[in-house]
Amino acid sequence: MKSLILPAVTAATLGLSFQPALADEAGEAAMAARHGEMSLMAHALGILGGMAKGQVEYEKIKAEAAAETLYVVSSIDQHLLWPEGSEAGALDGSRAKAEIWTNMDDFTAKWNSLHTATEAMKTAAGESQQAIGAAMGAVGGACSACHKAYRTPAS
Ligand code: HEC
Repeated sequence: MKSLILPAVTAATLGLSFQPALADEAGEAAMAARHGEMSLMAHALGILGGMAKGQVEYEKIKAEAAAETLYVVSSIDQHLLWPEGSEAGALDGSRAKAEIWTNMDDFTAKWNSLHTATEAMKTAAGESQQAIGAAMGAVGGACSACHKAYRTPAS
């Protein structure tokens, strides 16, 4: 009896622990990648925000680099970065709300509207501090519209 049950139990245990581990690894890699894109954008937006407020000196070359970063990052196709099972609660460190996966069209639309706002920022960045200030609202608004809907509050 024992010799038959033990291998079966061992296999079941392995099966149970091995599969979620694989899913976690893929989820964690995707989460790290999306945290990376978000950090790149936060860095760029911080520089533009500082310029708009006059806390960072307006330098055309830096303003354009920051706006280009926002534009390019927001043009990345998001399909690889949000695998199912990588939401907050399922994956440590994730603040992605489960609603992303039930409203993927809206989530994608919000991502695309950020991209549209960054086009205007690209033009503004080459012009002046004032123009950056005028373009900030639409970009910042696009970030926070998505965060409000699809990111869990900071704990
Ligand atoms: C379409 C939705 C969407 C848009 C647009 C968006 N974000 Fe996010 N952002 C998220 C979600 C969801 C998370 C949580 C992801 C996670 O923890 O897995 C997040 C997380 C972040 C984080 C935390 C990253 C980390 O390392 O934990 C930062 C910073 C951030 N976003 C900045 C920005 C900035 C700046 C913009 C605009 C320029 C922006 N985001 C636009 C959805 C969005």
